Amino acid sequence: MDKALSRPAVVSRVSDLIGHTPLLEVCRTDTGSRLLLKLEQFNPTGTAKIRMARQMVLDAEERGLLRPGGRIVESTSGNTGLGLAVIAAERGYTFTAVVDHHAAADKLRGMKALGTELVYVAEDGDEELATAAREEFAEKLAAESDNAYFTEQHNNPANGDGYRPVAHELDAALDGRIDILIGAVGTGGGLFGTGGELRKTVPGVRIVGVEPKGSIAFGPPAHDYYQSGTGTPEGATIGAMVDYDLLDEGAKVGDVEAFATARVLARRIGLLIGGSAGGVVYEALTRMSSLPPGTTMVALVNDGGEKYMDTVFNDDWMNARHLIDPAVEREIDELLTKLRGN
Ligand SMILES: Cc1ncc(COP(=O)(O)O)c(C=O)c1O
Repeated sequence: MDKALSRPAVVSRVSDLIGHTPLLEVCRTDTGSRLLLKLEQFNPTGTAKIRMARQMVLDAEERGLLRPGGRIVESTSGNTGLGLAVIAAERGYTFTAVVDHHAAADKLRGMKALGTELVYVAEDGDEELATAAREEFAEKLAAESDNAYFTEQHNNPANGDGYRPVAHELDAALDGRIDILIGAVGTGGGLFGTGGELRKTVPGVRIVGVEPKGSIAFGPPAHDYYQSGTGTPEGATIGAMVDYDLLDEGAKVGDVEAFATARVLARRIGLLIGGSAGGVVYEALTRMSSLPPGTTMVALVNDGGEKYMDTVFNDDWMNARHLIDPAVEREIDELLTKLRGN
């Protein structure tokens, strides 16, 4: 494995800026255990997902499934779409994103700005998550078009492969000293792509998945949730990248706790993270006090908070959906104080 991971001082494509994202130590306990956040919002488009978007396109080209001038089709909650939009622009493809209004408005606006054709499967004003309908529509659209390729992120091994470099970056930065990897599980590409590769050099690393309460990958009950881009809603197929053999533990975090964590972190340490990352960090923080001394836990932060100003960081939106609980925010604030010692 290349320990001297670095990027040239000058690059010529936006996609050359993918990766080499920083690690931020959020807390170190008096027993020497620490929580590090892998800040994937430092990638172009502000999310980890451009890593897999590039990999899916390169893989399709290599296998002759996407020819010059072709059209990429994907069902997306937005972050995969932003990544595909950049890669399509760079490589001369058109990109059609099949979306619903559950997606963050800024992700939809971002894709549009990058030249994406947006196709909605739900009525305007309908906030329902429409994952299954989106996927069905995207598949049909690609099948009916000439030289079109449905990247099918939930079922495409290139999704997981796109995250192998995350494992290399972590291994190089921490010199293999990583005990727990914790991350959100949607398609499963991010956590299991990283975790599977990391296990090759750090065989003892524990892999902990986090999904929203209401999501079904770690069991019932199913119900609606507001965390965007993550989880598997009822009616959708659990992603092929969700590798239960690699998983040591699957945890569920509610919207209230996930969003409260994102909001408290912003105020306390000046870091904006997205709602799904809020869930991951909540789960990580609650585990800190019971870890063996000297444990290093790395939490994968899928995206930054900037795309959620209309939702997670908007009190009116949050109150209208009964998602603010001051007692939960206080509890997280106190936990941070205890773990950080300030
Ligand atoms: C904000 C956000 N969090 C979490 C995830 C889940 O990542 P993965 O699909 O790699 O499991 C995604 C994926 O789209 C996402 O956009």
